[in-house]
Amino acid sequence: MKTPIEVFSDWVDIGKDEGMEKNHYMPVMEMIKLYNVGNAYSFVDAGCGNGWLVRYLFENTNCVNGIGVDGSKKMIKKARLLDNLGTYFNADLLSWNPEDKVNVVFSMEVLYYFENPQTLINKIHDNWLLKNGRFIMGVDYYFENNTCHNWQEKTKVNIMKLYSIEEWLSFFKRSGFKNINYKQVCKEKNWEGTLVVYGDKG
Ligand SMILES: C[S@@+](CC[C@H](N)C(=O)[O-])C[C@H]1O[C@@H](n2cnc3c(N)ncnc32)[C@H](O)[C@@H]1O
Repeated sequence: MKTPIEVFSDWVDIGKDEGMEKNHYMPVMEMIKLYNVGNAYSFVDAGCGNGWLVRYLFENTNCVNGIGVDGSKKMIKKARLLDNLGTYFNADLLSWNPEDKVNVVFSMEVLYYFENPQTLINKIHDNWLLKNGRFIMGVDYYFENNTCHNWQEKTKVNIMKLYSIEEWLSFFKRSGFKNINYKQVCKEKNWEGTLVVYGDKG
């Protein structure tokens, strides 16, 4: 078993980060629709991988400041090579805070790699977001999505926490988020879709 950061660093070596970019593209496009990216805004992509979403948002929306953070040195090295608009930090999400708070935080397929996601969700609410800011997260690994139940065995990642939709919503409630809601997007046969949970900092 390896840590999530070790596993994803290995993925960069074999180009699997680009496969992830392709697989996550459609659900992430649904996540973006939950924020008005037509107005000027700032964002953080928590667990940005090779930075593809940061690049996409700079190229296609009105963002004025965008930050990607990832614990994998190799992911961040690749992101910096591909992009000179976004700002990238190689850091553990639990020990990092933005210098200036942002309007929106996106995070795709990251939050279940924590022993206790509540700690990170609290931090995003308290230290990362501006008042009225929004947190939008997506996960494919959740209890109702039966197909994913063997992923920990398959990927050999040492921390993967399988929570239900209700449990994810409770994390948001306990952090103090308002207007909490969820969607399951890009459903297919034998695939319950990406669970997207979002809420606003009041
Ligand atoms: C499944 S990948 C998703 C990457 C990206 N969001 C995407 O959609 O392509 C998960 C990412 O989270 C990062 N990660 C996992 N645990 C982390 C932590 N504690 N701190 C920072 N990054 C972490 C990994 O390095 C990896 O790049």
